[in-house]
Amino acid sequence: MASGRDSLIYAIKSFKVKKILVTGGAGFIGSAFIRNYLKNNPNYTFVKEDIRNLDKIDDLAKNSDVIINFAAETHVDRSIANPLPFIETNILGTYSLLEATRKHDHLFMTLCDQKNG
Ligand SMILES: NC(=O)c1ccc[n+]([C@@H]2O[C@H](COP(=O)([O-])OP(=O)(O)OC[C@H]3O[C@@H](n4cnc5c(N)ncnc54)[C@H](O)[C@@H]3O)[C@@H](O)[C@H]2O)c1
Repeated sequence: MASGRDSLIYAIKSFKVKKILVTGGAGFIGSAFIRNYLKNNPNYTFVKEDIRNLDKIDDLAKNSDVIINFAAETHVDRSIANPLPFIETNILGTYSLLEATRKHDHLFMTLCDQKNG
């Protein structure tokens, strides 16, 4: 059976993806994805941006074919102590990525485990 990682790579290859916008690339899972699949690409660039910023996300998205979202506020215990950043990033931030996806007719992939927590 194919793993989540295999499915992701299969989807990227099948859709003949040229440019990928990866969000949360400095995090635990996003950085592993970048290390393994993108870092050696000569066209790789790092941009520090907030996924809640609709205009910036739109700018970045219009030059890419696929958005892969690893950006999130994580750790459920922190969401109990201080929920607002979780709502802002995991709901509104994801919304801004989905809007960009819709507008630019992209493929969108996201991890979601703790967004439901
Ligand atoms: N770590 C796991 O075992 C695991 C398992 C299943 C699913 N997931 C899911 O994978 C995703 C990533 O998890 P992780 O462990 O890499 O988390 P992480 O906390 O290590 O990384 C999240 C990254 O998102 C960034 N981020 C937070 N708010 C942001 C914002 N507003 N704009 C841009 N970037 C922002 C953080 O700076 C960080 O670099 C989460 O949705 C998590 O629920 C994680």
